[in-house]
This record gives sequence, C-alpha cells and structure tokens, in this order.
Amino acid sequence: MMERQLILDFVRVTEAAALAAAHHMGQGDNTAADRAAVEAMRGAMSLLDLHGTIVIGEGERDEAPMLYIGEVVGGGGPHEVDIAVDPLEGTNLVAKGLPGAISVLAVTERGGILHAPDIYMDKLIVGPTAAGHVDIRRPVEENLRAMAAAFNRSVGDLTITILDRPRHGELIARVRAAGARIKLISDGDVSAAIAAAVRGTGVHAVMGIGGAPEGVLAAAALRCLGGAMQGRFWFRDEEERARVQRMGVADPDRVFDTMDLVPGDNVVFVATGITDGDLFRGVRFFGGGARTHSLVMTRRTGEIRFVDGIYLTDRSKAGAILL
Ligand code: FBP
Repeated sequence: MMERQLILDFVRVTEAAALAAAHHMGQGDNTAADRAAVEAMRGAMSLLDLHGTIVIGEGERDEAPMLYIGEVVGGGGPHEVDIAVDPLEGTNLVAKGLPGAISVLAVTERGGILHAPDIYMDKLIVGPTAAGHVDIRRPVEENLRAMAAAFNRSVGDLTITILDRPRHGELIARVRAAGARIKLISDGDVSAAIAAAVRGTGVHAVMGIGGAPEGVLAAAALRCLGGAMQGRFWFRDEEERARVQRMGVADPDRVFDTMDLVPGDNVVFVATGITDGDLFRGVRFFGGGARTHSLVMTRRTGEIRFVDGIYLTDRSKAGAILL
C-alpha cells in the first residue's frame, strides 16, 4: 500500500510539470514546452521515496533522454511501483494557448500497467452511467442508443468528444447522422476521457483513434472513477502490428478493456491542469506566485480529491490570495 504522504507527493510531481509547461503557453514552441514539463517532472520525481520504473513515458531509451521507458526513477525506498507518465498531454494546446492541456501520471504496483507501444488505439470511453452498456465492436449508432438509454435521455441529448482528425471523417458523419452532439477537440484525449467520466462536464463519451499510451492513462483514471474503456490497436502498417506481436500480444486485433489496460489493484492517478479545460483550471500566475488545480484519485480507498495548490515565490504576496 502506497503511503498517504507519497500520494500527495505525486501531486507535487504533476504540479511541477504543469507550472513549468504553463510558462510556455501560447509561445508556439512545442519542444520547449515539452522539455520544461519533462525536466520538471523528472526533478520532482527524484525526490520521492520510491523505486519506480517508467512503463509508459517519453519514448524508448534511445529516443528520449528522460522519463524513457524502463528508466528507474525516484530516490529509492520500500515502494516498488510501475509508473505511466505524460508530463505534457496536449503539447500543441500549450503551444497555442488552447484549452485542455494537463500533466498526468498513474502509479500501480509492479505489473499493474500494460506496456502499450507508442502507436494508435481506437477507443470507446464512457463514465460509470454507461459502463457495461456499450461495446466498441458494435455499430456506433447502436452504442449511441444504448448510452442514451443508460442516461435516460435521447441520442440528441448526448455529447461525444472526438479528436478532430481526417481519419475520423466517417465516425463524425455517423454520429452527426444519429443526431448526437459532437465536441471536436484538436488534442488531448486523456482530459476528455476524465471529463466523460464525471457528470456535469456535459460530455458523455470519447470515441475514436488517439495514442495508445494516452489510452492506458485514461484507463487508469477510469479505474478510479468507475467508468469504462475499450480499446484496440489501430495499425498504420504491418511493422506496427508485428511490434505488438513481439510484445507478446497473441491477437493484435483484440479488444482491451479497462482492466486489461490497467490491471493493477493499487492504482493512483494524478493530473494537474496546464490550460483551462472541462474539468481543470489551468495554471494561474498572480505575480508573486502561482496556483494549480489538480485531481488525485486512489482506486483502493475510493478517494477522489481536487487539490488547489498555491506556490508563493514572494511570501509578502500571501495576502493577495483570493478564495
Ligand atoms: P501530445 O501531447 O503527446 O502531442 O499528444 C496529444 C494528443 O492529442 C493525444 O491526446 C492524443 O491521444 C494524440 O495526441 C493523438 O495523436 P495525433 O495527434 O497523431 O492524432
């Protein structure tokens, strides 16, 4: 069991990455924003009393200098954990100052996270209300009807988040024809997944193809929130299919559910807003300090906590903090 203190320490890790990335908002420099988030996350992680292995990270060892897959992180200690990270989920969003960028990580006991390769995954993500009512193998129209029934409303009262990509032309046309509302996003399907699992955000599902690592992170959040995800790899070529087979997946076309993606029992999920989104406020700088907005969840204890973090760089400005 990860100690409670450590769980708050994880929040500091995504806060650090979010604070660093937020300075790059609207600067049009994806690389600088990403680098700032990665360096800050790795620095904060080195202070943790744990022995962690990055299983979803910035890429393979030879292509990422930090937080690469297989890197051992943390300052050592009794906790042996696997960690999935995305220090800046929505790089373009930060570079352009658009909503929905977050910094995110998930932690489980060893072996609790699928080591998904950095390829695409077709996803169907719903919150607790529609969990168990949909199936990615069924036609989209059928899933929309099943979701509407679960929410006790008409299809026209559902909103589906979809990444705005040419590959989604047919999906978008079919959802439109079925009469559901659509929220097209330019990036950031992890925060979209979290929003879909929380009532009151106004979105009911995420559909379509995004990154597989992002799918695993979304699944970690859904394990804590009680939503459900189904995903199957979406291959651009035969080499990607072979890669998945080399990983030991006997049927590369199989459908993974939430438990397959994150089978861990002890799941901790943390995210901090970088730019404003459906669920998170972005980092706010107030001259003399900054304020962050995070979500931390622990599956085992069922705790879900929004954390309002205030970092004072000038303590004399403490009086300027507003509720
Ligand atoms: P990055 O922050 O790594 O750029 O990912 C953003 C993102 O929009 C993800 O949320 C999504 O899963 C993926 O990229 C979609 O990939 P693509 O932009 O290639 O369609």
